Amino acid sequence: MEYKEVLENVKKIQGLSCKGCAECNGLACGNTMPGPGSKAPGNGANDNWKAWRNVKVNMDVIAPSTAVDMSVKLLGREFKLPIITGPVGSIKWQYHPDSDVREYNRAIILACEKAGAAASFGDGIDPAVLPDTIQFGAEHGGISMPVLNPYSDEEIMEKMDFCRKFDPFAMCVVIDSAGLPHLRAKNISAGTKTIEQLAKLKEHAGIPFVVKGVMSAKSALKALEAGADALIVSNHGGRVLPGTPATAEVLPEIADAVGGKMQIIVDGGIRSGLDIFKALALGADAVMMCRPFITCYFGGGEEGISALLNKLSAELSDTMYMCGARKLDDITRDMVRF
Ligand SMILES: Cc1cc2nc3c(=O)[nH]c(=O)nc-3n(C[C@H](O)[C@H](O)[C@H](O)COP(=O)(O)O)c2cc1C
Repeated sequence: MEYKEVLENVKKIQGLSCKGCAECNGLACGNTMPGPGSKAPGNGANDNWKAWRNVKVNMDVIAPSTAVDMSVKLLGREFKLPIITGPVGSIKWQYHPDSDVREYNRAIILACEKAGAAASFGDGIDPAVLPDTIQFGAEHGGISMPVLNPYSDEEIMEKMDFCRKFDPFAMCVVIDSAGLPHLRAKNISAGTKTIEQLAKLKEHAGIPFVVKGVMSAKSALKALEAGADALIVSNHGGRVLPGTPATAEVLPEIADAVGGKMQIIVDGGIRSGLDIFKALALGADAVMMCRPFITCYFGGGEEGISALLNKLSAELSDTMYMCGARKLDDITRDMVRF
């Protein structure tokens, strides 16, 4: 199945809130929450997307014509691609009333396993999701990282104890979900976390621990102090606070502050292998991408997701080749310009 065909299928689905835009740039969905969009006034996802467009790549074809290797060691595990599919707590209210995020998570895991990418999933609101997805992930090499909402430390630790038995490659807490409009209304224990709380959670995880929702060097240094093995530069795709900078804007200063001391992952508006190259050049070790995978799931299930992963892989390989990088470690900041 071709990526173009996947998007054509999406446009035919009755009752789907996603419009299947040629480029998922947050404009058509704007201020729709619940829905795939951003928190009011609704420009956060588009700001993220636009910022990557302002980064240009420096072509360098005076180099040996050898093969490109996109493999990465991420939190102790080898993957063929520096891509993690983003966690999605639910799709029923946001995308289509007849959908089930457990089916989505399964399709993601299968497609990622084939492509050699990493997956992740959200614990969401439905308690049936976590046991189903962690079990399915375990049957496929533990390639899906649970991303736990910032409920009470006790609730998080209980979920960590459960997840650890299934040997996922890492565990993550998404601290910026404290700003989700519905989360604190559903569970009053949800909220921000201190360095001490994160340190306690890192200790309890017992496997690589990741903090999602870091948007400044100051926050990154706090995550480092807490002992996190990686952080995710993310503003939740504009869904938790309006007026933040784009992730591409803050990534370089975060990389300067903590790069080499912990792994850095970035998400928000990354839409192509070209964007992935830019993110790696600005200091990320890997990227996360979310909304386009959901769109492709509706347009073609597991095959639709595979079509997108294949497209991203081909684009990243091509960009690396044309910019003189043959492995991910060769990608340096001087290969891009603003
Ligand atoms: C419908 C929807 C549900 C999401 N659910 C979660 C979640 O449960 N946990 C989480 O950490 N992030 C969640 N996110 C945020 C994404 O994982 C990601 O951080 C964000 O969408 C930015 O990436 P993108 O621009 O590629 O979509 C969700 C995003 C969307 C659109």
